[in-house]
Amino acid sequence: MCGIVGYIGKQNAAPILMEGLSRLEYRGYDSAGIAIQRKNGIEVHKRCGKIRVLQSSLPKKLTGNSGIGHTRWATHGEPTDINAHPHSSNNGQISLVHNGIIENASQLRTRLKAHDVSFSSETDSEVLVHLIASIQANTLAERVRLALGQVEGTYGLAVLDAERPGEIVIARNGSPVVLGIGEKEMLFASDAAALVRHTQQVVYLDDGEIAELTPSGYRVMTLDATATEKTPATIDWSSQTYEKGDYRHFTLKEIHEQPKSVLRTLRGRLDHRFQTAHLGGLNLESRELLGFRRIKILGCGSAYISGFLGARTIEQLARVPCDAEPASEFRYRNPVIESDTLYLAVSQSGETFDTLAAVQEIKRKGGRVLGIVNVVGSSLARACDGGIYLHAGPEIAVVSTKTFVSTILAFVLLALYIGRMKDLSVAQGKKLIDALNALPNQITKILEIEPECERIAKKYASYDDAYFVGRNLGFAIAMEGALKLKEISYIHAEAYPASELKHGPLALVTEKTPTFFLLPVDDLFDKNLSTAQEIRARKGPVLAITHSQDSRHSEIHELFNDVIEVPKSHECLDPILMLIPLQLLAYHIALARDCDVDQPRNLAKSVTVE
Ligand code: AGP
Repeated sequence: MCGIVGYIGKQNAAPILMEGLSRLEYRGYDSAGIAIQRKNGIEVHKRCGKIRVLQSSLPKKLTGNSGIGHTRWATHGEPTDINAHPHSSNNGQISLVHNGIIENASQLRTRLKAHDVSFSSETDSEVLVHLIASIQANTLAERVRLALGQVEGTYGLAVLDAERPGEIVIARNGSPVVLGIGEKEMLFASDAAALVRHTQQVVYLDDGEIAELTPSGYRVMTLDATATEKTPATIDWSSQTYEKGDYRHFTLKEIHEQPKSVLRTLRGRLDHRFQTAHLGGLNLESRELLGFRRIKILGCGSAYISGFLGARTIEQLARVPCDAEPASEFRYRNPVIESDTLYLAVSQSGETFDTLAAVQEIKRKGGRVLGIVNVVGSSLARACDGGIYLHAGPEIAVVSTKTFVSTILAFVLLALYIGRMKDLSVAQGKKLIDALNALPNQITKILEIEPECERIAKKYASYDDAYFVGRNLGFAIAMEGALKLKEISYIHAEAYPASELKHGPLALVTEKTPTFFLLPVDDLFDKNLSTAQEIRARKGPVLAITHSQDSRHSEIHELFNDVIEVPKSHECLDPILMLIPLQLLAYHIALARDCDVDQPRNLAKSVTVE
């Protein structure tokens, strides 16, 4: 979604802003712009379209030591040059970039218009710049602070004042802003990815905070003008981590990183002595954890699907009733928040608005929430009472791949931890830990069959619809496989429990609708084979993701049009291994259809608005 960058220091700001904006491209956007503080005022350049369109429109000589930049993902008003940020006050003195949504924009607009302010865009953000310009005060920070006191909604914003060239004011409420501390220079962005080339020392602003930046430092205060002390943190990842390297796409790079990201998620968390897990960040005593009678998992998209799978794993291993629900729906059904329920909020980015809103609803009603989050220091991580960091590394592609797998592992570790406090035996704990240790090599083996997946993908690239089916945990992977395919290839893809097929979806099966079948060798294997036969009887092409086995080999190869075999693991980890070929298939089908794999249309990496 929208991205913000800014710079103040001794260097020329424009190239730093443009490079920073390109680092935010992955978040999804439809227009971009920058404002540079020059000797004779602020110069604004903005364009609808990709950053390269903006780059080619910039004058050769654009000098100035401070500036702000923005990538916009349209909410209020179409993607046009005029609606792009920065927005400026009528006299051009103040310029602003904004992420988030101003809920009382129309009231503010009416009020400002009554005072002869003229608007040029359809955006809610433009009201902010006129509001700030309409306020008289001694400092820019004070003008911003007084203006924000009248604003309802969410914002991450940055403001330039032509009359105060040595400073930039930024503020945050519900939309992230991170400061980067350099040598006699300050940077900021909505995402640390845009800062790491310059500095790894950062400060995360909290909601309701305003910061005044100068080349030599920063001063933070709250909306009621109380000064706040911030402690800088160090980002663990180098700038190379945020680059594609030799891979054609971030999606492929991140699929291939999975053996390593799995290792990082597991590192230091397997206790071979007691055959359990170490989870230091839960901030819960064992006794407290055992006191919860239920677990409820909340997340959106892939995070929700991982929760669906995680819930079943927790129930199996820990024997605690557990279910998952889309976080985007949760608060609108006025949920009962129970003190003996443990809530788990899942989010790769830690910035998904709907998941954050669900957490706020739970906390407001006195519930206990833990976060399962990838981005350290993100809003969700800070809003929760504790939790599990995934440590999967930065995920740049819009579609989740490695973070989905790491989230499943986080649930497995939690289930193992609670399970071992209850009925899970030492032997069962050991079996699971052995399987966890074997996982990275097994994933590496599956990644080696990428050429086969690519060959098969070409056969399935021209269909308009596809179905994904499986039973139990296989159904969860069917959901994730369908989501991957629809997100990047734009093929209409639906997931169904295999058991449900006869209750409706079978009506849609024809020779034009391939089915991707999750077929683990488990208790339900024969039932799954019968369902596959029903599809074949309707001429539907069927592809099986299954376990290598000798005894049924010819039967499987006769029934299915295509078969991809993966190694067997613990039943709780089989879904991970079965997912890897589906990720590769989705990637190669999308490539065969010439789709923009890393930045699919209409989607953003983190959905920071409702
Ligand atoms: C997954 O491929 C999607 N990009 C999307 O469903 C995503 O999982 C969802 O928006 C939640 O994001 P989060 O994990 O950052 O909260």
